Amino acid sequence: MTSTAQHTASDIKDLSLAPEGRRRTEWAERSMPVLRLLRERFSRERPLAGRRLAACLHVTSETANLAVTLQAGGADVALCASNPLSTQDDVAAHLVKDHGIKVFAIKGEDHATYYDHLRAALAHRPDLTMDDGADLVSALHMIALNRLDDLAPPVRAWVETLSPADRKALVAGVIGSTEETTTGVIRLKAMARDGVLQFPVIAVNDSDTKHLFDNRYGTGQSTLDGLLRATNLLVAGSTVVVAGYGWCGRGFAARARGAGANVIVTEIDPLKALEAQMDGYRVAPMAEAARVGDVFVTLTGNVAVIRVEHMRAMKDGAMLANAGHFNVELDLAGLAQAAQGPTHVRAFVDEWRLDGKRLFVLAEGRLLNLAAAEGHPASVMDMSFANQALAAELVVQRARQLTKDVHRLPRELDAEIARLKLGAMGVAIDTLTPEQLRYLASWEMGT
Ligand code: NAI
Repeated sequence: MTSTAQHTASDIKDLSLAPEGRRRTEWAERSMPVLRLLRERFSRERPLAGRRLAACLHVTSETANLAVTLQAGGADVALCASNPLSTQDDVAAHLVKDHGIKVFAIKGEDHATYYDHLRAALAHRPDLTMDDGADLVSALHMIALNRLDDLAPPVRAWVETLSPADRKALVAGVIGSTEETTTGVIRLKAMARDGVLQFPVIAVNDSDTKHLFDNRYGTGQSTLDGLLRATNLLVAGSTVVVAGYGWCGRGFAARARGAGANVIVTEIDPLKALEAQMDGYRVAPMAEAARVGDVFVTLTGNVAVIRVEHMRAMKDGAMLANAGHFNVELDLAGLAQAAQGPTHVRAFVDEWRLDGKRLFVLAEGRLLNLAAAEGHPASVMDMSFANQALAAELVVQRARQLTKDVHRLPRELDAEIARLKLGAMGVAIDTLTPEQLRYLASWEMGT
């Protein structure tokens, strides 16, 4: 049990929701055997002992299991939301009440509160940060580069109360970071390229046991789940336009097709477009797809993928959603200028009137799967968060050797996570015979 001081150190919706959050977190834990094994080892070995860790992640039941694992490893954890709509308030309450973890996250928080929560995580004075979208690291870098104008007002106001030495110590105190998602890794690689990265980062997303499964199967299934929960749409027979055929797009396109949709893929990469075409989808530019789609979902990690010119071409009643990391993929500012609305018609559905037609924007253009559904199933987050826990351990073990760059986890750890997952699923595989090993290592044998 935690003390009252620890409760007041957090900012969550309602502490009395903790019992439901605990049940939900325990339910997720049943499907997270790899993370459970790591937690057992972390409890014995305490690899994060004495470390202060600030994490900016979606506050879900799976993340709760990660936070408790990091705590078992000895870390003093502070957690803030990585999206204003993705927090599960009962889970946040459970972490605060039952584990004494500091949590700053409320579902539906406004922009200012989102950044005030980020500030609170930074005020934890972490020596290790964990991001989903690079918001913590990006704020630390704006501080390091003295670009205070680029900080959100709540963070800026706080930083201005710190002395220059204190600001320097805040950034210098961070020995390294880990990053969960594609968009965050892109931002971090841009920082490394520009020579401004202040500490090493482990790109968890680059592990095969992350993007091959989480992005594809996790986003695929949970985005369809979010679409169904938000709209109760009959997918069979609908035309679903999927923007982006990367890991997430492939996953969602497959699930939408499985539910009976006619799927159209839009891409800008000729290889991905060719792959989509050969996977049996219709491929078309957005300008063309806009005219026939019933539902549009962006999963690109890019900005303004669906613009007002596309929206004007859409049918009456078209639905628009995003499952990419940031709410920038639909041009909602452009829509707000050109259209009348929004009228809130049901949870996670806003109606806009454009040229006399109705367009429905789901979950305010934020990650549909986390806003309207529960995010990825625990079984897939088991691998993503095993990567996160191992990445945190690696940063602590190797902080001195790692260069100020974006690194991936060693391939042996990736393979180990896959091996443990297969074991937990009761799936056995073959091993190479000595003859096969020799054959694969030699070049002499031919026809
Ligand atoms: P990826 O890099 O594998 O795929 C993105 C694809 O979008 C690429 O094939 C790219 O060519 C395409 N693309 C870029 N601009 C485009 C445009 N204007 N029109 C059409 N296609 C375009 O990335 P991944 O892993 O699929 O991630 C996509 C986004 O989803 C990222 O923002 C990532 O952070 C986010 N993500 C969201 C999750 C969720 O829970 N909703 C989970 C994992 C990732």
